[in-house]
Parts: sequence; C-alpha cells; structure tokens
Amino acid sequence: MKLVALSSSVVAGLAALMLAGPHSARAGEAGSPPIDSVEESADIDLLLSRMTLDEKIGQLVQRMGGRSKALNSRLGPEELERVRRGEVGSYLHVAGAEPLRELQRVAVEESRLGIPLLFSMDVVHGYRTIFPVPLAMAASWDPEAARRHARIAAREASAAGIHWTFAPMVDVARDPRWGRIVEGAGEDPYLGSRMAAAQVSGFQGNNLAAPDTVMAGTKHFGAYGAAEGGRDYAGADLGERALQEVYLPPFHAAVEAGAASFMTAFNALNGVPTTGNQALLRTMLREDWGWQGLLLSDWRAVEELQAHGVAGSRQDAAALALRAGVDMDMVSDIYADDLRRAIEADPALLPLLDEAVRRILAVKRDLGLFADPYAYHDARREAAVMLADSHRQAAREVAEQSIVLLQNENDVLPLARDAGRIALVGALADDALSQLGSWRAQGQEGDVVTLRAALEAAHPGVIYTTGVDTRSDDASGIAAAVAAARAADVIVVALGEDYDWSGEARSRSSLELPGRQRELFAALAATGKPLVVVLMGGRPLAIPEIAEKADAVLMTWLLGIEAGPAIVSALFGESNPGGKLPASFPRTTGQVPVNYDHLPSGRPADPDLSQDTARYMDQPITPLYAFGHGGSYTEFAYSPLRIDSVSMAAHGGSTTVSLDVTNTGNRAGDEVVQLYVRDPVASVSRPVMQLRGFQRVPLAPGETRRVSFTLRSDQFAFWSESGGWIVEPGVIEIMVGSASDDIRARGEIVIEGSAAGSIAPAAIATRTVLQ
Ligand code: NOJ
Repeated sequence: MKLVALSSSVVAGLAALMLAGPHSARAGEAGSPPIDSVEESADIDLLLSRMTLDEKIGQLVQRMGGRSKALNSRLGPEELERVRRGEVGSYLHVAGAEPLRELQRVAVEESRLGIPLLFSMDVVHGYRTIFPVPLAMAASWDPEAARRHARIAAREASAAGIHWTFAPMVDVARDPRWGRIVEGAGEDPYLGSRMAAAQVSGFQGNNLAAPDTVMAGTKHFGAYGAAEGGRDYAGADLGERALQEVYLPPFHAAVEAGAASFMTAFNALNGVPTTGNQALLRTMLREDWGWQGLLLSDWRAVEELQAHGVAGSRQDAAALALRAGVDMDMVSDIYADDLRRAIEADPALLPLLDEAVRRILAVKRDLGLFADPYAYHDARREAAVMLADSHRQAAREVAEQSIVLLQNENDVLPLARDAGRIALVGALADDALSQLGSWRAQGQEGDVVTLRAALEAAHPGVIYTTGVDTRSDDASGIAAAVAAARAADVIVVALGEDYDWSGEARSRSSLELPGRQRELFAALAATGKPLVVVLMGGRPLAIPEIAEKADAVLMTWLLGIEAGPAIVSALFGESNPGGKLPASFPRTTGQVPVNYDHLPSGRPADPDLSQDTARYMDQPITPLYAFGHGGSYTEFAYSPLRIDSVSMAAHGGSTTVSLDVTNTGNRAGDEVVQLYVRDPVASVSRPVMQLRGFQRVPLAPGETRRVSFTLRSDQFAFWSESGGWIVEPGVIEIMVGSASDDIRARGEIVIEGSAAGSIAPAAIATRTVLQ
C-alpha cells in the first residue's frame, strides 16, 4: 500500500507538471522539438531518483504481447508478473481497450512505482479502416490525403488502447526489387519528406496527450532503403552526399514535424550496423539535429549486432546499442538480461541509461499517461469509431486519388456505361486479402470490396474467370479466360502481385509478372478485343509487353477496403485518375536503379547506339514509365513561368515562381504540377533534375488556376566536398511540368554569392499557393 501511495504522489506531481505551462511543450507543436523539457523536468528527475537499477532497465524493455497475427496471445500470468516487478516499459503486438486497460492497471496499481506502459503496434496504412498501401498514397501526390489517413488511423488505434504506431515508414527506395518499397513513398526525398511530415502530423495531431492521437514511430533510420541489390536486411554502401541528400531528408522532415520517436534500421551503413552506430544516432541525429525523442531498435536488432560481427556477446551488444543512443530494445531482451552486467563492467554507461529512461518517461508524460493512464481505454469509444462511415468514405477518396493511369490508347477508358459484356479476368480481381496490403493491423478481409464485387454490382454484363493466380504454375484457366474474352465486348484483366509478394523479406530478383500471368496476358491480347489492364501490387513492375499491347493500363496498387469501388469509378470515368508515379517503372529488372534524379555523365546516354555513352545497349535509355508520370481523361495546358525576381541572395534570398494551369478538355480532373530544379555548374556534379515542389490541382473543364512556388536559397544547397551544406553562386534552371519526362515550362534564376545551408534541401517544404 505504501508503495502504491508513493506511485500516486509521483503521478500527481507529473500531472501537475503537464498542466504547468512553459516547460510542458508537447511533441507535434509546430516548430517546437518534441521533448524539450526533459532536463528541466524535476518530477522526472524525482521519479528517476527513486528507481532501482533494474527498474530503470525495465523501462528500456519492449516485449511482445503477442504476434502480429495473434495479438495479446503472450499476456499470461508470467508476463503480468514481469510488469508487477517493473521489468517492462512497453509492449508491441497488443490491442483492445479492455484487455489493455487490465494490463495498464497491473502496471499502474501493482508495480512499485506505478509507471504506465506504452502500447504499440504497426498501424501503417490504417487500423481497422485500411487505406491504400503507403506507396499508393504517395502516388496521390497529396500530403493532405496521407495526413487524413493517419488522423483516422490514429483515431481508431488510440480507441483500441494503442499509444504508439511504428509509422510512417520513410525509407527512400530506388530499387523495386526491395519488397519494402511498398511501405514508403518511393524514390524521391522531396516527395518522401512531404509524405513523412504529413503522416507525423496526422498521427500525432496538435497534442500528443489527446486520447485520439498516437505517437509516430518514424522508421527505419537511416539508410535501410539503400540495401544492396534490393535484398532486405542487406547493408548499404553509400557516399556521404547520397546519404545526406537522398536517404536522410524524410527523417529530418519528420523531426521538423515533431516526430516523437524513431526506429533504427536493421542493416549496416558503410559497414557499421545502424543499431550500434554512434556517429549516426548519437552524434548526427541527437547532437547535430537536436532531436530528443525516443529511439527504439527494430525487432531483435540489438541482439543481431552479434550476427553483424560487431559484438562478441550479448553484453557487448547491450553496451554498443546504449552507447549509440538506442533507448529501447524491441523484443531481444538484451537490455533486460544483459545491460546490468554491461553497466557493472563499464559504469560510464550509467548516465546513458539515465538519459534513456528520462526520454522514455518524457514520452509517457507527453502522451498524458501519468495524468490519466486509462485515457486510451474507453470500450464505448472503441466500438463507436471502428470503421465509421466517414472513415470508409475517406478510404474510398484516398484510394481514388492513388490510382495512376499509365496509358490509355485511343481513349479506351473510361468505359461507357453501356460498354456491353465485360470479361473480368484474374485472381487478383477477387482477392480481398491482398487489398489489405502487408501491414493490415486489424483490417478484416470481410470489410474489403473487391474489384469483382464492385464491378458486378455496377454493371450487369460481367463474366468473371480466374485465368491464373499470381503464384501457381497452373495455366489451365487460360482457355476459359480466352473463351470469356471472345464472348465479351471488352476485357478487364487484373494482373500483378498479391500482398505477399511485397513487404518485409519479400525482395524479388525479377520485376516481371509472377506465375503464368504473362501467358494469360498474351492470350487475351491475341483475341484483339479492347484490353484494359488493372495492375495491382506493391512495387513498380517491368511490364514492357503490357505497355506495348494493352489499350489501357491503370496502376491500382493495393488500395485498401474500398479498392473495388475506387477502381470501378475510375474505369467508368466517375472519377478521373490523377495520381502520378512516386517511383520509376523500369523496362527490365536489369535497368534498376533508374531513378529520374541521376547524376549527369561525361558521356550522357544517347539514343544513338553508335556513340559510346552511359546506357545499356539492349534497352532504350528511358524508363518504361518515368517518375511523376500519370495520365488523365482530360488534358492540361501550362502557361510560361513568371519569376518574380530572377536573382536571389545566397543567404536568406527567395523568389516566387508561378504559372497558370488550364483544364483544356471536357471532363473535370486533377493535375499534379511538378517543379524541378537543376544546378548546371557547381563544385560537385549535381543531378540532372530534382523535385522541389508540387501541387495537386483540381480543375473543372475550361478552368484555369494559378500555382505559385516560393523557393528559398537554402533549397539550392548541396552537401559540399568537405561536408556540410553549401549554397554556391550561379544559374539554377527551373523546370515545371506534368512529369519528370514531360516538362512544359522553363526558366532560370541566379544565385548571388555563397552561403552555408541549414538542413537537407529536400526536407524543406516549398511554400505553395493555389489560387
Ligand atoms: C520489423 C520491421 O522491420 C518493423 O518495420 C516493424 O515495425 C517491427 N518488425 C515490428 O513489427
């Protein structure tokens, strides 16, 4: 009883602090670092001073409360005993307002100090209401869509007792063989930064302590996406410039947006495993960037420091990770079992332990858990918010926004309402599970409306045949599909990858359609009927035969519970596809990486094969579909650029570039206006183009709207030869257009003088105004 009383008084003290004012800044408040008052927080110090070494270590331990597909399954009596002994700081793979209330009660009322637990889960693209996979959401080029999804995901997850999501995943991915490309925003650091910041703001809201927000766990810091050969978990060998300019900016944008926690990457960077990488974590992230949030390892990544060959024992691994700045150990129990011995052997670790405990207690405080540990455990709220109509409606709208029209020969799309008989082919058209993607949280197959269900509901003359699926070698269904196609007026075939072809540990050596789908496609194309391909999956695919023979191709990714209705509305033109590719589509696997922002060469690629230039002999020099590409059922015209001031001071200068965009067709549609820049002469070779602004613009037929981009001089900085950001004098080329390979307007500005830059230019949001 006495111990409980002590706990309550500490809780009361912390609650008072939360209401106190200037030092209780919340994560997520614009412009303020997430946890800036840890050092000043007398109450956290007080709590710390009362903790035993084992209780301190306990706060650093994250245990699995279940498995991702069997949540809460490990929460038996032994686990509760650990909580009572103060040996656990957090659980993952747990859910449910009521079961987690009981677990929290044990922590708060039956452990010596009553410190609440943090409950966490991978809520990556929805909790119960599943939205499109993140790569698809990036194809919307609408950060507001990503923010809206995260807000809804947070509302649902927090109602189920979750405080913390392991999202957004902000790893830049330039090799689509890497299966985890599906979880991020694609190949570009600027687009990735906007999507990262938008999701952090959606998950965390303005107030982390509000019971309907969750802490964002930005991952996987810092170069996981650069895994060699696209093989998941493989190391990244990167020059400092590529690291700073390409892979780190979305993380920095997340820091600026107030991200309260980060997760370390599994892999090594230039030979140093990230989870023990002091230069990256402690020096750069904490000291240089000034970020004070909670840093969590990935699953068993502390233990894996041994397999990486940088720790000779579990004790070494514990010391290495703590020294590097890893606050919490996900699941490996190395901190739990081995950190005490590591500290006894090296007392210099003790202050590092205290720092980690402070940061963990600070996020618990910022989440409001000391003030009310049960704020996230309202079963009535849980029942009321799950899959609310407004959530489903938002999932539908975001799905529609994510669809990309890759090609549309002879305006085969949209289909007329009286299109006649439609042969719908392909196992993916009827695969509800796949639309939930690889992180489906609490998404249910039964919530999904498939393409087949939606098309049959919308159109009387649909004949469905499976043809082939994406996995088996059984091609026996092709004959029936061809017969159905012959009897139909138009073929709609769903091809691509099911949900389990992409995601963690789902790297592929080939980007071709898996299974016997190419044969199915060839047989359908041979019928000569109008042929619409609905391409599904979580990565860019190499589909040259489809590009050549299909009349129309819609990239529909894995679109979540409203996949079917969203695709059907695009097929019939009730919505007009306006998405753009967030990653280039190669012509063959061997063409990767084929990112648009490559460096120039002394011998730039030339279509003329008699020249010796930077290209493959056996492929054209372009990708199949370029970054930023995406068609529409209408057309858009661009005015020339207006540049308000052609010269800009290197230090503190800015200029505004504006243009008018007009819908010249007779259907409403969205255009994504894209602004690219190039520094043609600098002290180091600069990319041929780099995205620095974009705006999705909805336009009625005949309507014109003005888009203005205000560019700051520090957005032209680059990582200098000697390290650090520098802005150099000289000309900058500005290119604005509809895709990276479809530039419609050009201009130039001149930078006067030179200056030091501040942060990675891709992390800086261009101020954009739509009139
Ligand atoms: C491992 C994955 O790499 C990470 O993204 C995920 O958050 C954790 N497992 C927890 O499920």
